[in-house]
Amino acid sequence: MHLCVIGCGNVGLVTGACLAAAGHEVSCVDIDNERIARLNAGIVPIFEPHLDDILASARKGGRISYTADAGEAIRAGDVIFICVGTPPKDSGEADLSAIEHVARQIAEEARSAKLVVEKSTVPAGTGLMLQRALTAYSRGSKNFFRVASNPEFLREGTAVEDFFHPDRIVVGVEDEAAAADLREIYRPILERRFHCPLHNGVCPPGHNAAFLVTTLNSAELIKHAANSFLALKISYANVIADLCEKIGANVEEVTHAMGLDPRIGTQFLRAGLGFGGFGFPKDVQAFIHLAGSVGVDFDILKATERVNKQRIDVFLEKVRKALWVIKGKQVAVLGLAFKAKTDDIRSAPALEVVKRLLEEGAIVHASDPEAIPRTKALLPEVTYHDDPYEALKGADAALVFTESDIFRTLNWERAKSLMARGLVIDGRNLYSPQKMRELGLEYYSFGRE
Ligand code: UDX
Repeated sequence: MHLCVIGCGNVGLVTGACLAAAGHEVSCVDIDNERIARLNAGIVPIFEPHLDDILASARKGGRISYTADAGEAIRAGDVIFICVGTPPKDSGEADLSAIEHVARQIAEEARSAKLVVEKSTVPAGTGLMLQRALTAYSRGSKNFFRVASNPEFLREGTAVEDFFHPDRIVVGVEDEAAAADLREIYRPILERRFHCPLHNGVCPPGHNAAFLVTTLNSAELIKHAANSFLALKISYANVIADLCEKIGANVEEVTHAMGLDPRIGTQFLRAGLGFGGFGFPKDVQAFIHLAGSVGVDFDILKATERVNKQRIDVFLEKVRKALWVIKGKQVAVLGLAFKAKTDDIRSAPALEVVKRLLEEGAIVHASDPEAIPRTKALLPEVTYHDDPYEALKGADAALVFTESDIFRTLNWERAKSLMARGLVIDGRNLYSPQKMRELGLEYYSFGRE
């Protein structure tokens, strides 16, 4: 089976690269000519650990190709993965115009039967609309289109690992044959019969991924339901953190003990600045909108969103309380991306805080291992440093925004000697309050004394 991947963003590139590494032949297409030219020149346009290596070896092995000619890629593919963006409109509803555009292209360009697989995150009901659009736009042709949903559960920064070692692979189908085709595509991953680039071919023993066959609507709903639940867990932990601060308890002790109950689980209970990125904020919004459109009031998700937005105010309040007057103060921003190991700055809490501090007259110096080039274009008023110690020189306060190893392992004794004032406000609870105070630093974090 030859595969076609439409959309060379994060999800499309990881999907194309990993399926090629698993032994398939993949044609990737994107409307962005420049992106395709860069990919053809061997330049990977995003930062994602391991992606460069697997794309390079897939290219060398002739298993992956890139084109801006959608017709060529569509005609080559027996199975077409749609990986285009579904950004939120002002109302929170997902904008499906790229999906519609692709449906028209597939219908017009195909010369044989195709299995069309949605990988983009879409509201439940989109697959059925896609099926209808494919039929409508292919008027006169005898091509037969089957539609399936195969949501991705890829975290930025560990997307390759997540693709090769998934907990579950969900396929929403309307017919048995589509499920069989998708099982065949994922067989190398299900049976762990591929050269794993992460573990140099020898993966540690782990549980096998579940292959779940559902209806189209269920598969689409699973993605939104899973991401929204994780977002809800984070907001829950953040409210507990606020409560701990008022009452005098430690949020880490509380969430750790909570999480040891297997019905709750320890993950996604880290309190701090809340969730950002291109996944959770838009998925929560789209899920609220979808529920509302069918008369279901998803009140707990509205609260999840509200709590998350307030994290920025809570953090700024800590900064104001410690610094008093912001105007003229020099702050060192450690971390710009929405989390560690990515250069993605979409809905990054750091950017929101930096914008507000600049408005109030602060002088901002920033460091991030990956995200400086992207942020520079957006915030030219900031002075950027590859070396975090340079960003800390002369600072009245250090503000910590991501869990990057480079910040986690920072030598605070050295940092303190460089700063004008040893004040650290930690948005990710990275350090031990006791150790920071022993070093003579003034230290504030979330939900801990
Ligand atoms: C998410 C989903 O996890 C993934 O399955 C999906 O398909 C895409 O969206 P991603 O956006 O890469 O992935 O980030 P993730 O690692 O899930 O973290 C989301 C945000 O929540 C980050 O801003 C992170 O800092 C924050 N977070 C995470 C917390 O604040 N506390 C936690 O305990 C966990």
